[in-house]
Amino acid sequence: MSKGQQATQVETYQNFIAGEWVAAREGKVFENINPADTHDCIGRFQDSGPEDVEAAMAAAKEAAHSWRLTPAPRRAEILYRAAQLLMERKEEYARLMTREMGKVLKETRGDVQEAIDMSYFMAGEGRRLYGQTTPAEMPNKFAMSLRQPVGICAMITPWNFPMAIPSWKLMPALVCGNTCVIKPASLTPLSTINLVKTLQDAGLPKGVVNVVTGGGRAVGEPLMTHKDTRLISFTGSTEIGRVVSEAAAPGFKHCHLEMGGKNVIMVLDDANVDLAVEGAVWGGFGTTGQRCTAASRVIVHKKVYREFIDKFVARTSALKIGNGLDETVEMGPSVSEDQLNTVLQYIAIGKNEDKATLLTGGNRLTKGDYQYGYFAEPTIFGDVTPQMRIAQEEIFGPVVSVIPCDSLEQAIEIGNGVQYGLSAAIYTQDVNRAFIAMRDMYTGIFYVNSSTIGAEVHLPFGGTKNTGNGHREAGTAALDLFSEWKSVYVDFSGKLQKAQIDEWQSEN
Ligand code: UN1
Repeated sequence: MSKGQQATQVETYQNFIAGEWVAAREGKVFENINPADTHDCIGRFQDSGPEDVEAAMAAAKEAAHSWRLTPAPRRAEILYRAAQLLMERKEEYARLMTREMGKVLKETRGDVQEAIDMSYFMAGEGRRLYGQTTPAEMPNKFAMSLRQPVGICAMITPWNFPMAIPSWKLMPALVCGNTCVIKPASLTPLSTINLVKTLQDAGLPKGVVNVVTGGGRAVGEPLMTHKDTRLISFTGSTEIGRVVSEAAAPGFKHCHLEMGGKNVIMVLDDANVDLAVEGAVWGGFGTTGQRCTAASRVIVHKKVYREFIDKFVARTSALKIGNGLDETVEMGPSVSEDQLNTVLQYIAIGKNEDKATLLTGGNRLTKGDYQYGYFAEPTIFGDVTPQMRIAQEEIFGPVVSVIPCDSLEQAIEIGNGVQYGLSAAIYTQDVNRAFIAMRDMYTGIFYVNSSTIGAEVHLPFGGTKNTGNGHREAGTAALDLFSEWKSVYVDFSGKLQKAQIDEWQSEN
């Protein structure tokens, strides 16, 4: 614990514009506080405004030409170096991340690792970025498709994966030859600054990536609506995603949205219950439930319901809650007071729902060191029915609803019966039932005998329905997001040939 740290030790971090670390024009700053210990101020960050966005956009525009013309394998070498540097800095950045957003060290190391994985993966793409060569329909004509950069990409990133998610956006955008302006979440600007500092140290030319910290209205809005922004990539709530989508529409800007989830674990009557309990604890309370992929619903077959509940409650109530810097702690705080209040409100809603039973948790932790942080007990509601608000709405906190069911078909119906479609999981020993669920769950991610979290960087990441707008991050799918196709025809016949019109005549 660093309780009582002096304000004098607090560092001020700058925006990154045109390769320089600079203060916001208006000279305002905001503080970033440790949610596990509100005496611990991680740093002061620039409270930027539209003028800073303008400067960042100008820098991104200035850098665009030469970055686009830098050969992709050379662009990729910078990503590769960044990945190597991140490996060296992993522990330092993980510790800072735990202080800034609260999740436990094992998980913040995983967050940095995800950025490392993404950087290496996209570095490899620098020597692929495959298009197609394909026959032309006329003689002496050549046809191929090439990826070209989209242009200036605006990125608005969330606080729950403060280095991994920026890397999901920056690395593919960079390898495809785009320049970027990123606005990190105000609760976690430091991890994004650390990522971009690493890119700078790896040799990224000035202006290729710019960071502007500050609020949604003062920074996010001018960034999204700027005339030179060609693509907006946003991860956050479905509510704000709608605003982003509307901001993108008039200028026909490309718009990628990665939003809410109400993910589900289905536990069938033949499941390995102990394994399912481990998955439910990890999916429900890992990252304090603050993952888009969190398992906030568990649907359990009535035949194993009692056994599952007993084991799930026992495991959950034994979780060690505290400051994530302590290696023995299993669950940290909510990221902020607002987020904690949302959690407490949903607990109150759950308690008032007819029939739902509070099985464990349900309180804010306020004694001892907990009083300096935003801690709530991991909470389980049992006997939840599918239409209850706690079974329908994304809570983004350590609250899990357990819903009894009678069959696989019913589990699938309940599982699909929400507005979101990010991740789903099934626990069963029966391969036939696993495949039926894999086919019928309308989600972007599906797991068999594993929890709803744990996506790897080389597969597409994203969801259906109100989780997304049809795009995917990560894997080669991210290249489709951050590049546009150009189809190229080269006619070397020396005469005018007309597609669809000329008739083919064999010379024989
Ligand atoms: C998120 O929840 O916002 O699959 C991202 C996972 C992580 C990424 C989660 N690799 O849970």
